[in-house]
Amino acid sequence: MSKVTRRPLVAGNWKMNLDHVEAIRLIQDVALRLRNTDHRSVDIAIHPPFTDLRSVEGIIGADELPIALGAQHCSAHASGAYTGEVSVAMLARLSVSLVLVGHSERRLYFGMSDEMVAATTAAVLKGLLTPVICVGETGEEREAGETESVLVRQITAALDGVAKGSESSIIVAYEPVWAIGTGLAATTEDAQVACHRIREEIRSLRGEAADGIRILYGGSANPENAGDLVAQADVDGLLVGGASLQGESFAAIINSVAACYGS
Ligand code: 13P
Repeated sequence: MSKVTRRPLVAGNWKMNLDHVEAIRLIQDVALRLRNTDHRSVDIAIHPPFTDLRSVEGIIGADELPIALGAQHCSAHASGAYTGEVSVAMLARLSVSLVLVGHSERRLYFGMSDEMVAATTAAVLKGLLTPVICVGETGEEREAGETESVLVRQITAALDGVAKGSESSIIVAYEPVWAIGTGLAATTEDAQVACHRIREEIRSLRGEAADGIRILYGGSANPENAGDLVAQADVDGLLVGGASLQGESFAAIINSVAACYGS
């Protein structure tokens, strides 16, 4: 399967920004800026904070927006005494279809281990939602020449949560930690090398299914670098943080991805 048959995805991770009133304003702004050609060639998703989901679901539903709703995290458990956590079933009830799993900020600040990433991935798949499994090396690991081994370790561990035959239901995001929020995106070459390595590792573990899996790049993606990043053979879209918080920059990123993929 060639790159062209993998439909690109541009997903906005709002992180801990925007309350539900601000969220309504942003989703409406984004929707107004998107063109039919964008929707024809690009899948679009947003991952607002939990407290915004109900409001954003309402706008997406009422206006029939072709924008997928995502969450930034969820529990690996189905229910019970897990204070502060949110279950996959709760998200599904709010029309959430995608969940970020193992974002580096969850790994670094909240102690999310490779095992927890696998368990959460399994829970998301069991609930028939799509996990967006995030992997990526820190700056120190990169300097120590450990990028490849970190990616292999993280992707191998995460696949423990993916039953054989379910590979087509996952998305992977390569997010080098040193590029997140720094304004210093990976070069197109580095992004391609890492995404290719991830795909080859999935291939070695799960065979041809690797060709159908979308691998996104994330880390200081912006309207200027978006087109060049997704022009790479193994980069199938973008996971956007800061630049997804403004309608203008998020829509501009989607426009350039559509220009790259559009016929
Ligand atoms: P930035 O685009 O702000 O670097 O964030 C990337 C990211 O972490 C998306 O999940």
